[in-house]
Amino acid sequence: MSSSVINLTDFLPLYRQCRQKTGEMWQQLVAGGEDRLFQQLHPDYSPMAWHFGHIAFTEMLWILQHLGGLRCFSERQFHQFAADGLPKAERGQVMTVGALGQFLWEGHSKVIPMLQSLDAHEWRSQERLWLWLFHHECQHQETIAFLWQHAQPRAVTPPPRGSADGGERWIPPGAFMQGTLATHGSLGLDNERQAFPAAVTSGFWIVSEAVRRSPYGEFMAVGGYNDPQWWSDAGWQWRCDQGIDRPQYWDVFTDPRDPVVGVSWYEASAYAHFRGMSLPSETEWEWACLWVPELIGTVWQWTRSPFAPYPGFVPFPYAAYSQDYFDGGHYVLRGGSWVTHPKLQRKSFRNWYHPHVRQPFTGICCVRYDHGL
Ligand SMILES: [Fe+2]
Repeated sequence: MSSSVINLTDFLPLYRQCRQKTGEMWQQLVAGGEDRLFQQLHPDYSPMAWHFGHIAFTEMLWILQHLGGLRCFSERQFHQFAADGLPKAERGQVMTVGALGQFLWEGHSKVIPMLQSLDAHEWRSQERLWLWLFHHECQHQETIAFLWQHAQPRAVTPPPRGSADGGERWIPPGAFMQGTLATHGSLGLDNERQAFPAAVTSGFWIVSEAVRRSPYGEFMAVGGYNDPQWWSDAGWQWRCDQGIDRPQYWDVFTDPRDPVVGVSWYEASAYAHFRGMSLPSETEWEWACLWVPELIGTVWQWTRSPFAPYPGFVPFPYAAYSQDYFDGGHYVLRGGSWVTHPKLQRKSFRNWYHPHVRQPFTGICCVRYDHGL
């Protein structure tokens, strides 16, 4: 895990490298063929091309337009790339390859001199917005990466290997501050603020690594996907409707020591049930991280906690960023994946998806209580 505090001197190269990486991904994808770049590969997600435009748009909107007072977009462009603009199915015809490649750098070339000209005082007053922008771009890079993986198996480097069967670690009860302290230089997002006192009242066992293929293969081998006793009603319905019989990337990352990658919340819950275990609450997961930091940086792990605001939540930088998802229909994932930018990997980072979602690099963590479930 890298340092969680970022100052202006650290930020400049970090921000430039981030766009450099976005540019490299763009080049690689363009070289691989334009068709799939503009296709909607899955109904839940925008085409990859849109994400590139949205990255550049977001930077221009918040820095050039909001901070700099420059008018950057036509109505049409605004509608094309705003998060609440066009429906996802209509985001495939946003621009030509040439225009989009240019758009990626156009605003950025004005933004960098603005960043370079900031003095310490200005940086302090603007840093939260800049850090959020960096975070936002990194997250869209990860979305592009899993969409790419979805379109072309083995597009992405494989996840880190662990041991074939993991093991469990005992986590004692205790109290801690859950979330992110709103200190200067913190990357913490609106949904992980403000940090608040949390308690875990009884100890529990937790898998010491995200669940690997080998134990998950046992669940599959005994017919776990065909036995409704392990599944919730909604999960069983989903499994039957979709004809699911294995994780999304089961045939891609095939070493027994690879983590299970590409499971829905329904699958993760069914597996935990099969083992006589449970998905952790997010409080348990974050607390356990103090003893088992290896939980971070392998695969996103589903928790049993619905995505909800922390006490004193204040939206930033706009209401729809997190608040619109506090609807009881999304579950929190923790840990980051091996594709997540190392600077973003922190124990307080919350991701959230609907329970049927499995395309992101999602995996499983389980806990066991001595008193049973
Ligand atoms: Fe976004």
